[in-house]
Amino acid sequence: MITPVLLCGGSGTRLWPLSRKSYPKQFTALTGEQSLFQASALRLSGEGYAPPLVLTNADFRFIVTEQLAAAGVEPGAILIEPEGRNTAPAVLAAALWLEQSDPEALMLVAPSDHMVPDEAAFREAVGAGVGAAHEGRLVTFGIHPTRPETGYGYLELDGAPGDGPPETLPLRRFVEKPNAVRAGEMLAAGNYLWNAGIFLFSVRAILDAFRAHAPDLIASVSEALKTARPDLGFLRLAPESWSRVSDISIDYAVMERTENLAVVPFAVGWSDLGDWNSVWRESPRDETGVALSGAATAIDCEDTLLRSEGERLELVGLGLRNIVAVAMPDAVLVADASRAQDVKQVVAALKAKQ
Ligand code: GDD
Ligand code: MG
Repeated sequence: MITPVLLCGGSGTRLWPLSRKSYPKQFTALTGEQSLFQASALRLSGEGYAPPLVLTNADFRFIVTEQLAAAGVEPGAILIEPEGRNTAPAVLAAALWLEQSDPEALMLVAPSDHMVPDEAAFREAVGAGVGAAHEGRLVTFGIHPTRPETGYGYLELDGAPGDGPPETLPLRRFVEKPNAVRAGEMLAAGNYLWNAGIFLFSVRAILDAFRAHAPDLIASVSEALKTARPDLGFLRLAPESWSRVSDISIDYAVMERTENLAVVPFAVGWSDLGDWNSVWRESPRDETGVALSGAATAIDCEDTLLRSEGERLELVGLGLRNIVAVAMPDAVLVADASRAQDVKQVVAALKAKQ
């Protein structure tokens, strides 16, 4: 049995104005009928999976329970972080919680902002990583890179991965979010894969890795869990201890520092819907590269995303190229598509204005 650990406490600022502080992207139906969070929960349910452990922010707890109920998924537990501290503390809290019942249990850490169209292939890839995870490796899932993306982690292999059935390969190194030059070099080198952001490991192995590489997190996160308060089916981590927890992602805190890594190359569809460019890429587009959603119309446009999120909110693009325009009833974003990663700056600028 594998316990899915669903992370859904991020704020998704690069998808402003659709993704909001009070209702971030993982709970919206960006491309299908289900929200990304619901799709992730369903992907990791059924045979071979224990009920999921969900980690989220206090603000999203009722969205989480509503969406799980609507998807027919019964959670094993929902841990509430008093404040977002990024993914390392969340994964550590999950591991410490699972350790109480079974230190040898396997946990599959899954983000909730992804699209994985071929679920059977995904299951097969997870299955291929189980042996290495039982042996104590931290197993990552690697995607063939297609552009010098700076928003992802990169996985360095000994050589170019083959096209055969999924298998576990040793990993030399993990490089989180390189700059554009470095990303270009890694793309050209041919022996790098993108980190899908999904991890498979035993509770014991990840706790050992935290002890070795991020020992400062252990005391405060353990304390926050020990003094956690049950509340309406949620388990609230203690705010006072949590306030001492550093804000760091699992990629920087553990993956970049450990040598105990393995990778299962994952050849079929995967997309991180992290920014408007990736949403454009995953949306149905016409032959000129225009993607429309809602009451949107494009005239003489190319490689452009026009998305209207309001009822009868007409959004019209005329003569646009490489533009992302997203109209909500109370906010509109018009951006050059090459600046998609910088949309988080918009949110910071608006916050500073308040
Ligand atoms: N519970 C909880 N608490 N979840 C969080 C928190 C938090 O404080 N912060 C982020 N998350 C959730 C997000 O909602 C998302 O589902 C997941 O954790 C990953 O966080 P992101 O913030 O989206 O990470 P990223 O996209 O910048 O980078 C990660 O994913 C890439 C692939 O999409 C890294 O693992 C990269 O290496 C990877 O390439
Ligand atoms: Mg992401």
